[in-house]
Amino acid sequence: VEKRKIILYIATSLDGMIAREDGGIDWLFSDQDYGYTAFYESVDTLIMGRKTFEQALSFADYPYAGKQAYVLSRHGMTVSRADVELTSDLPGLIRSLRSRPGKDIWCIGGAEVVKQLLKIGELDELRLFIHPIILGHGIPLFEGSRSDIRLQLLDTRAYDSGLVELHYKYRTHRSS
Ligand SMILES: NC(=O)c1ccc[n+]([C@@H]2O[C@H](COP(=O)([O-])OP(=O)(O)OC[C@H]3O[C@@H](n4cnc5c(N)ncnc54)[C@H](OP(=O)(O)O)[C@@H]3O)[C@@H](O)[C@H]2O)c1
Repeated sequence: VEKRKIILYIATSLDGMIAREDGGIDWLFSDQDYGYTAFYESVDTLIMGRKTFEQALSFADYPYAGKQAYVLSRHGMTVSRADVELTSDLPGLIRSLRSRPGKDIWCIGGAEVVKQLLKIGELDELRLFIHPIILGHGIPLFEGSRSDIRLQLLDTRAYDSGLVELHYKYRTHRSS
């Protein structure tokens, strides 16, 4: 049995922003599927930060209904959904998910959670959907990483819309 992977699947601008400074994602394409349906089928667990979760809740329909989600929050909040669990222990969550069999795990974001997963070497793959736009300002996906993080390119795909997918595998050895 193949080990379940933790995969970052995320859209960025060419300059590596995941949202405008105010959290705006109006610049993201949704004109076609871009492999999302197949990817969504391949995961059974979601990890996201509290801010990303709150944005998902603000949509007309919560986009991840029925999929087990773990939302990170230090301060806590009230969650009334049965498919969402809050946690303040990221390493504990990862340990627990890796010790259980299952499909792959989607790290939705945001930047704060991604930064920590990269730092502890717990992101197995990155699938970046680079949009043909330079925002100049915003929430950067990669900022302030203290050492080199080496990646191996697995695949690339370019779309007529100008969107490019870069698919990487984490190469640096896990510290734990
Ligand atoms: N482009 C895309 O595809 C995409 C995807 C996802 C998100 N986004 C954007 O990303 C933005 C949010 O990103 P962000 O980096 O600002 O925030 P985030 O990572 O979504 O959430 C940060 C929050 O997560 C909690 N947290 C983080 N690390 C934790 C830990 N180790 N233990 C416990 N709790 C932890 C804290 O919540 P508390 O404050 O409650 O303690 C923290 O304030 C949104 O604007 C969204 O639009 C874009």
